[in-house]
Amino acid sequence: MSIAHGIKRLGVLGAGQMGTGIAFVSALHAKVPVLLHDKSAHQISKGLSLIDKLLAKDVSKGRLQASDAADARARIQTADSVEAMRDVDMVVEAVSENLDLKRAIFREFAAKIRPDAILATNTSSISITKIAGAVIPEGEPAAGEVAKAVSGRVVGLHFFNPVPVMKLVELISAVQTSQDTLNRSRAFAEACGKEVATSQDVPGFVSNALLMPFINEAIMCLEKGVATRDDIDKTFRLGMAHPMGPLQLADFIGLDTCLSIQQTLYKGTSDSKYRPSVLLERMVDAQYLGKKSGRGFYEYN
Ligand code: CAA
Repeated sequence: MSIAHGIKRLGVLGAGQMGTGIAFVSALHAKVPVLLHDKSAHQISKGLSLIDKLLAKDVSKGRLQASDAADARARIQTADSVEAMRDVDMVVEAVSENLDLKRAIFREFAAKIRPDAILATNTSSISITKIAGAVIPEGEPAAGEVAKAVSGRVVGLHFFNPVPVMKLVELISAVQTSQDTLNRSRAFAEACGKEVATSQDVPGFVSNALLMPFINEAIMCLEKGVATRDDIDKTFRLGMAHPMGPLQLADFIGLDTCLSIQQTLYKGTSDSKYRPSVLLERMVDAQYLGKKSGRGFYEYN
């Protein structure tokens, strides 16, 4: 018998590409009412228009009834503050990759959101255990019962971009995560139409501990003149049937995100094999961030 996720209301923090995609699959497939919050009103309206576009495309392709699309859209509401999300059963944080920011957000969640809600992060490389450590109320011993209850609700739920298309969610347990939180999080990801792969809480988890060094090596190949941009990408598209070559994929993910994950791997392992490529650092210095900024290894209009 499948385990019930018990999520009757979901909060999503961050209306960027990932948060918007998570809100979309939760409302459409898991049929859960979603409260979407972002400190930028512009980001919220961009996210909602992407959701409208995705639903309209599914209807026009005959994959979704117009009435089901309207129901899914009606399940997505916006929240103007974290307080407005106080009654959710799970919150998924999808803000930028910054440990201090995430720790501050989780401390606030733990204080404001109902005490049995799951606190999930969509981080792609930051330690879930470090984030979970932030939710323990001041003065409580880290190994005590209060700390155990609150930090046991923190989990890594790592979706992949584009969320509506990619079938995987990586489930990462912090040292503190409870079995109940893991079971319900897995059931929720499955209700969103995803398959789940679990990973230990190591820098980058399984996905980025393998993907980012591959992308970094591809950038080093370009840097050293081993092959051209187009030939590096063609090798993987045509030789290994990857949908995108590593340089195009880096642009798609965002070069700042790639650099920040690579730095987390380097810092977290102290292993020189993870040293970020100088070219990647320079591209980010120049604000050539990939598709989102109009220029990365490729140009976009
Ligand atoms: N949001 C929603 N749907 C999207 C989308 C987006 N941003 N981009 C493309 N799609 C949909 C399209 O609408 C289309 O759907 P239909 O078939 O229903 O029409 C489908 O994806 C295919 O799109 P296209 O035909 O336009 O283009 P494509 O065949 O080249 O596919 C792609 C585009 C799905 C992005 C494909 O190139 C791909 O799979 N690329 C690799 C993506 C990848 O590796 N993602 C993981 C990145 S790593 C990560 O996310 C984790 C991390 O921590 C860094």
